[in-house]
Amino acid sequence: MRYVERGEVPAKRHVQVRGEDGRLLVEEVLGFEGFSGNESILYHRHSPCRIKEVGAHTPLVREEWVPEAHVHRLTDTNPVVPQGDYLTGRQLLQFNADIEVSICKPIEERAGFYRNGEGDEVLFVHRGTGVVETIFGRVPYRPHDYVVIPRGTTYRVQHDPGEQVWLCFTTPGEIETPKRYRNRYGQLLEGAPFSHRDFHPPPELESHTDPGEHELTVRVRGGLQQFVLDHHPFDVVGWDGYVYPYTFNTDDFEPISGRIHQPPPVHQTFQGQNFVICSFCPRELDWDPQAVALPYHHSNVQSEEAIYYVAGQFGSRRGVDVGMVTLHPSGLPHGPQPGLVEASLGVRRTEELAVMWDTFHPLRLTPLAREHDQPGYALSWSDDLVEA
Ligand SMILES: [Fe+2]
Repeated sequence: MRYVERGEVPAKRHVQVRGEDGRLLVEEVLGFEGFSGNESILYHRHSPCRIKEVGAHTPLVREEWVPEAHVHRLTDTNPVVPQGDYLTGRQLLQFNADIEVSICKPIEERAGFYRNGEGDEVLFVHRGTGVVETIFGRVPYRPHDYVVIPRGTTYRVQHDPGEQVWLCFTTPGEIETPKRYRNRYGQLLEGAPFSHRDFHPPPELESHTDPGEHELTVRVRGGLQQFVLDHHPFDVVGWDGYVYPYTFNTDDFEPISGRIHQPPPVHQTFQGQNFVICSFCPRELDWDPQAVALPYHHSNVQSEEAIYYVAGQFGSRRGVDVGMVTLHPSGLPHGPQPGLVEASLGVRRTEELAVMWDTFHPLRLTPLAREHDQPGYALSWSDDLVEA
């Protein structure tokens, strides 16, 4: 990420700074890896430790469904019933020690604020618009945005009326752009499929002096801790640094194509702790007359591949519609279904849009995955299912 400054920031750090009322502001360094990682410095009107009441700590229970058979899975998230708000509406689909993947179709407003104190979050917006209000400023979102929210960011989501469908990722690790796309100073390389201009921090800071009561929910130690504040948590008058929420839209992903088929890493958008997130975007396909544009069969012997289908027709999949998730688990080969390679020959463009997460450790499934499991998918490579 690049250096960003919003609001009023003094010329020197760690010096006396006073607000408009003459009182000293409270400086907070919000950083990673002790004092060695990226950080931002925020200037508060109140101590960020200040709380009025301490509520309950409620453990988050991750129920697991262990299927009887180890096969390729298809999950249809279209029938998942909209419920809850931007926090309670997250319905867990898959998880392991590195990542949680939820579907969120919020229908309720939540006045209270939330902060993940133990993980970074990514909200991929399939449908809906709104604003993620954060302590760093307002982050407007639109369809096909990845909204990246670093841990420690106090926020709430004000979603616009109408349908909202988000894919939510939570990780105890860090969400970053792939290291191979950055030079030794952290700047994105010319060969990367995006540039710093494609990543959008909060356009402006919104600072509040509201003294009323506000609820704050903090995710810590595997649960949700409730607090009540006697001031608005967005009491920051200025901040600067390298840690802040931002959006990246898949429309700004510049696909890398080749004369013959390029491997999935060319679609990589983010790296996480033992996983990657990739964006399959509309693009020109391989142009050699002998090219096979669809992926070759592969045995991902060390990783799981899950894909959420966002828009368009995915060339290598039959019977997979928008809103569905395929899971090709480790230990099994996978590839295009019969007939699809033949049908794709000579096709020079795809309008598909999909988000993939590959994990290096097995993904566990939840009762929600069982409820919307399509068991016929595992048998869909049989030749006799090929359409005439
Ligand atoms: Fe694959």
